[in-house]
Amino acid sequence: MELEKIISEAEDFLPLLGTDHVEIIVGNAKQAAYYYMSAWGFQPLAYKGLETGSKDSVSYAIRQDKITLVLTSPLEPGGDLNRHLNDHGDGVKNVALWVNDATMSWKETTKRGAKSAFEPYTIEDDNGKVVLSGIHTYGETIHIFVERKDYNGAFMPGYTAWTPDYKPDPVGLKYIDHMVGNVDWGEMNTWCKFYAEVMGFAQIISFDDKDISTEYTALMSKVMSNGNGRIKFPINEPAEGRKKSQIEEYIDYYKGAGVQHIAVATDNIIETVTQLKARGVDFLYVPDNYYDDVLDRVGEIDEDLEPLKKLGILIDRDDEGYLLQLFTKPVLDRPTMFFEIIQRKGAQSFGKGNFKALFEAIEREQENRGTL
Ligand code: FE2
Repeated sequence: MELEKIISEAEDFLPLLGTDHVEIIVGNAKQAAYYYMSAWGFQPLAYKGLETGSKDSVSYAIRQDKITLVLTSPLEPGGDLNRHLNDHGDGVKNVALWVNDATMSWKETTKRGAKSAFEPYTIEDDNGKVVLSGIHTYGETIHIFVERKDYNGAFMPGYTAWTPDYKPDPVGLKYIDHMVGNVDWGEMNTWCKFYAEVMGFAQIISFDDKDISTEYTALMSKVMSNGNGRIKFPINEPAEGRKKSQIEEYIDYYKGAGVQHIAVATDNIIETVTQLKARGVDFLYVPDNYYDDVLDRVGEIDEDLEPLKKLGILIDRDDEGYLLQLFTKPVLDRPTMFFEIIQRKGAQSFGKGNFKALFEAIEREQENRGTL
């Protein structure tokens, strides 16, 4: 087994060390940074803007443990950032992956059919250098490969360390567990094939519309994982139902494929969600009767049921253990991107047992929006 693992890592043409950062294009980066710091416990990390010589855009990098978000807004009319905002509203543009060799990553993926977003180039400052390259994935989303083995600065050349006095406490978020992409009708297999052939990922789970449907709506999903399992990208597409799939609602408002949710891991979901709720983050809720028979379904768990019920945290079990999870409402104006909070206690799956209750909760929100 150990030998198999070593061999498969040696053959991995795109070894990924982890998620480097996620860049979200927003209408007002300063206020978005304040939201993610105040409500979500991210810490100030780095800044670029007029003061650092960035004339046309401003970016705030914020961090909590291994999760780094970059919030970027245009400073002038026109240009690609404004067009991105106009088309999509606030949304994820770059899913940056941390690699040892950004040049090789670009060569290996473009050789296998990836469309280049930009060729490898080096940026430098007094703290060293970073090499970046980029390829297109679904919609307008880009995977940036970030090589930073010779860099000791706060974040990246071009940025200055950002050290305001205002630093709300973290809420216990650790790392990105998975990031989900929504793609259009009939496109799921195309993009799963892309992750398999271009990036060397393997499909680890597949859910069809029978697994993921309620009385009214449906979707399909496949989960793609890289070789070492650090990067997991589920891909969703809408499926036919009596009413409009939540994936179709996303596509309608995002104007195409894009990142649907970022799942962030915690070691103590009760504490994390208590904090997030106290700071104003809105979560989906399931009816109280979800908890009537949940322990019959998932068996014994370490936590008391009462606080989980009070916070609306969902529970599921697979062959390897169980997991606790909860989903926010969309965190921006359009009904597009949201977050999932997840605590894994052995389980490596994605909460299939909660899909029905969860999607009924989403349908209630769609109903309120008039988009069901
Ligand atoms: Fe998820």
